[in-house]
This record gives sequence, C-alpha cells and structure tokens, in this order.
Amino acid sequence: MDKSATEPVEAWPANEETIAAAAALLRDGKLVAFPTETVYGLGADATDDRAVASVFEAKDRPQFNPLIVHVDKPETALALGVFPEPAKLLADRFWPGPLTLVVPRTGDCPVSLLASAGLDTIAIRVPAHPIARDLLGKAGIPVVAPSANPSGQVSPTKAGHVADGLGSRVAAIVDGGPCEIGLESTIVGFDGDVPLLLRAGGIPREEIEAALGRPLASPEHAPVAPTAPGQLASHYAPNAAVRLNAREVGHGEALLAFGPDVPPCDGPSLNLSPSGDLVEAAANLFSFLRELDATSVNTIAVSPVPETGLGEAINDRLRRAAAPRH
Ligand code: TXA
Ligand code: MG
Repeated sequence: MDKSATEPVEAWPANEETIAAAAALLRDGKLVAFPTETVYGLGADATDDRAVASVFEAKDRPQFNPLIVHVDKPETALALGVFPEPAKLLADRFWPGPLTLVVPRTGDCPVSLLASAGLDTIAIRVPAHPIARDLLGKAGIPVVAPSANPSGQVSPTKAGHVADGLGSRVAAIVDGGPCEIGLESTIVGFDGDVPLLLRAGGIPREEIEAALGRPLASPEHAPVAPTAPGQLASHYAPNAAVRLNAREVGHGEALLAFGPDVPPCDGPSLNLSPSGDLVEAAANLFSFLRELDATSVNTIAVSPVPETGLGEAINDRLRRAAAPRH
C-alpha cells in the first residue's frame, strides 16, 4: 500500500512532461488519477496485485466489485481476453471509446486476478481521450481504473472533484479539464455469443443494438447471471436525499431541472439541459449533483428525464443516487 501518499496532491496540468512522470508513477505501482472521455479514473498497474489492492483501499471499495482494465490500443485489448464474434464487432466499431467489454480471460492473461475479483472474465476498455491514451501508451502496461471517487460517491468529471475526494490517497492527478461525456462507459458482457447490457453508459443501447443487428439482453435473462456491475443500490449517492420525477419543488429543496419547463423553486437550482439535450445533461449530471449537494440542502428534487438514448444511463445513475442508503 502506498502509505507515503498522505499529503493532498495538487493536480498537474497535462503536458508531455507530467504525462511521462505520471506514466513512471504507474509503472512504479503508484496510484494516478487521469481524465478519460467518460469520468476521471483512479489508475494503477493492472498486473501488480499490490497496486490493484491499493485501489480498493483508496476507494474503500467492497472487494467483490471487479475493475475495468484500460489499454491504449484495441490490439493490446484483444490479447487479454477471448473475444466472441459480437465482441470483436463491437470492439472494431466502438474502440477507442466509452464501451467496456467483459470477456473470458486468456489462459496467460497478465492482469491481476484481484482486478477480476475472482471471476474468470475481464472487463476491458480502450478510452478515446487523447491524454488517457498517451498516458497508457507511455506506461506500457494495462491499467485498472475505476472512477476516481471514494466508493459510493458521485463520479468525478473534473480534476478538482478527484482532489476533493481522493487528493490525499493518490500519487498524482493529471488534469485534462472536464470530461466530455460525464457518464461511465457502457458495459457489455456475453453469455456465449449472446450480448448482455451489464451497465447503461456513454454509448446508448440503441447504437450498440444497431451495430449488432440484434437487441441487447438483460443479465437477469442469462442462465448464469454475471456479477452485477456496480449494482449496489446506493452507488453514486450525494449527502442530500434525492427525489426523482419531481413536477414541483418543495420549500427548502434544491432543484435539478431538465428541459425548458422548470417548476418554481425558492432554493438553489441548476438545469441539466435547458434545451432538453440528453448529451448535455449527461455531461453535467455528476458535477451538478455535487454542486447542489454542496449547498447543504436536505433534498434535491430532480425533474423527469426521458428514458431514451443516454437517458437510460442518466436515469440509472439518478435512481441509485435516490436509493435508500446501505
Ligand atoms: O467509464 C468508465 O468505465 C470509468 C472510466 C474511469 O473508465 N470506469 C469505471 O470503472 O466506471 P468502475 O470500476 O467504477 O466500474 C467498473 C464496473 C463495475 O460496476 C464492475 O462491477 C464491472 O465494471 N465489471 C468489471 N469487471 C467485470 C466482470 N468481469 N464482470 C462483470 N462486471 C464487471
Ligand atoms: Mg464508479
């Protein structure tokens, strides 16, 4: 464990030098937070059991939750797992990008078994963010990277969010500005050749189904349900209570609005997308939840968000934010 990282670190602006230094820290088994197009990741050498263990420790994360392995190129990814045909097709179509594929590990997969949390599968993603790819290329190792927040809290979409939550637990934070998508990657697993949607995310279900030419099944319908990804009900919880599908706002509540029809509100209020654009709403979701939570209101009322496109992932995160706390 990295006991030396106790002083809060300042985020490094991303450039050739800081990316090279961050890559060296990763190779040295240290924790480095870095930007991806979805959210900031808490990176560690995926082939180093101690480094992977220190990720769980830093996040206070339940150990049964497996991690996503990030690599810089599709070729590198394809060597770590056994990809059924539909997985190859999705890799070809969506990598680099906000898609994670869960496939069986190869026999000689160098990734720590701890990263798979005892499963014989591995979750892999090739991020599209240029700083992430540069860092992964310079590190030259597969890197586990859960979202860079303490377990159960809202995912970070800015370097400052990482510093607030984990600043004293990482060796470095690479600042690449705000994350463009703002929601975690979509996770697709396979029951043999049958593709399953394990987590709604940055690529809408519809786009994946169009690429596959078939619908994505739900894990409940698989003969053996894969370990549910991040399915703790109260994942992503702010301190405030969250009230969904609010058509009106109570006295003393904050409002997280969506679209042009904003109910009257006498407390703090932010609009995910005044024009009703789901892409804009996804990008704003986590940082607006943080901002409203920071006002110390007891409850955040959230306007209804449609279930189409990225709305499926947005509503999934909102339902978890609203779930009773464990
Ligand atoms: O966008 C993202 O995916 C971000 C950025 C940093 O890349 N990462 C991320 O990682 O969201 P994390 O650790 O917060 O979420 C990983 C999810 C978990 O919910 C986990 O259960 C699922 O991936 N997962 C990982 N390995 C799995 C496996 N072998 N089988 C099923 N689910 C798996
Ligand atoms: Mg997370």
